[in-house]
Amino acid sequence: MSVERTLSILKPDVVANNAIGGVISYIEKAGLKIVAARMQHLTQREAEGFYAVHKERPFFGDLVKFMTSGPVVVMALEGENAVARYREIMGATDPKKAAPGTIRADFASSIDENACHGSDSLENAAIEIAYFFRATELCPRTR
Ligand code: PPS
Repeated sequence: MSVERTLSILKPDVVANNAIGGVISYIEKAGLKIVAARMQHLTQREAEGFYAVHKERPFFGDLVKFMTSGPVVVMALEGENAVARYREIMGATDPKKAAPGTIRADFASSIDENACHGSDSLENAAIEIAYFFRATELCPRTR
């Protein structure tokens, strides 16, 4: 077990549905701690840059359009095995396939509007956290 950090984005559907607190309660109940948080409305350029690795995929345009359709909440989370733990509580990308009790099963309406993002590896987590936060914005949680 090791303490890790991962990037979480609560997507525009969660914000529009007034479900920010609901999703954060799943995160906190899972033992993950928020070490940085900000609400922001992504620009087209920011969303395209963040998802650049997916730019050849057929849904890229729709994904960018959705992610810029309203404000999101970006957070850095910290905890034991945070990358895998957060992916576990998010559930499968397609909410129809997400296990009961996961964030996507309980808050997402479709694969296009699937409530949350979580880094898929420790290496990408570091890159993604740095995409949104300066090192000085990360608040170590000692208690
Ligand atoms: S994952 O979570 O990275 O393993 O999933 P992946 O299938 O590789 O998808 C990459 C991101 O694209 C989103 N996605 C979609 N958006 C819109 N329409 C469709 N059909 C679609 N399929 C996948 C998926 O949610 C991933 O974005 P994030 O922000 O990581 O959830």
